Amino acid sequence: MLASGLEYTDVVIRRHLYPQTMRRRLPFVMGYDVVGEIDQLGDGVRGFQIGDRVADMTVVGSNAAYRTLRADRLTRVPVGLDVAEAATLILTWTTAYQLLHRAARVRRGQRVLVHGAAGAVGQALLALGRLAGLDLWGTARGAHAALIRELGATPIDYQRDDFVRVLAGGFDVVFDGIGEDGYRRSFAALKHGGLLCAYGYSAGVQAQRRMLTMLIWIARLYLWRWLPGGKRARFYSINAMRARHPGWFREDLQRLFELVATGAVRPRVAERISFDEIAEAHRRLEAGGLQGKLVLCPDLKR
Ligand SMILES: NC(=O)c1ccc[n+]([C@@H]2O[C@H](COP(=O)([O-])OP(=O)(O)OC[C@H]3O[C@@H](n4cnc5c(N)ncnc54)[C@H](OP(=O)(O)O)[C@@H]3O)[C@@H](O)[C@H]2O)c1
Repeated sequence: MLASGLEYTDVVIRRHLYPQTMRRRLPFVMGYDVVGEIDQLGDGVRGFQIGDRVADMTVVGSNAAYRTLRADRLTRVPVGLDVAEAATLILTWTTAYQLLHRAARVRRGQRVLVHGAAGAVGQALLALGRLAGLDLWGTARGAHAALIRELGATPIDYQRDDFVRVLAGGFDVVFDGIGEDGYRRSFAALKHGGLLCAYGYSAGVQAQRRMLTMLIWIARLYLWRWLPGGKRARFYSINAMRARHPGWFREDLQRLFELVATGAVRPRVAERISFDEIAEAHRRLEAGGLQGKLVLCPDLKR
């Protein structure tokens, strides 16, 4: 193990509000993604050698010094890439890439609103959205306005301004990983025929809602398409998409490795942390206000 990202999704998992893992009981090892170097090969594994650098999205189990992975799920990490930056691409940036290009299939010039724009996925959505030629707005607390501008978007202070009123006519696409008020206002902010891509429910987790409540929010998204106005809404899950299209996951992650290698994008690592700092990292994720990803680098001494 060389690097493993810590993300808000780990908080969701720890609180048993993540459908895939909600039945797991402690103790279990957390850790959603991993960049590592092959130390041993299982019988019959072909195409890899000891020392190769690889990545995988494991959902749990990667905040560890060593772990076992299935060869057919690995993506090669190009030599020379910073391991912490590479780790940020696995869950966070692949989510952003697939939201833009697989779920919403955005087109140059579209007007797009990103919630939680200073957050991990939000920053990736802005950076990749800019490359795709989108016209971007991002909600964040006021203190993050400069960062949002630096990422090429118009900031909206969600504590002061009403994002539904920002754009007369409405947005083509809204990406919402927060789910404040069960996505209602995000849907209201769309133009006629616009698309809401929901992908998270941080607000529900913060408010200690039950899993059932969030599942109802998600189910309701699919009923809204019958409302007048021609708007659509859907929920994106990286795991559901990987299960249906495993090739897309590898292809998109490889594309992101290339984008970083050529300098087209630069993921922001807030801090590299050691094992002793994981509990504190969870507190920091819950407190909010981070401007990049926390990445566990097991070789780091506190
Ligand atoms: N469906 C999927 O496949 C998938 C994949 C990845 C992540 N997710 C989910 O997507 C969500 C975002 O992930 P992330 O890693 O980007 O999290 P993050 O780094 O914590 O970013 C979220 C941002 O949202 C803002 N925020 C938090 N609570 C808010 C609230 N109540 N109202 C308005 N804004 C709020 C914060 O902005 P400020 O600091 O500016 O306040 C924070 O920076 C999480 O729920 C995560 O579990 C889903």
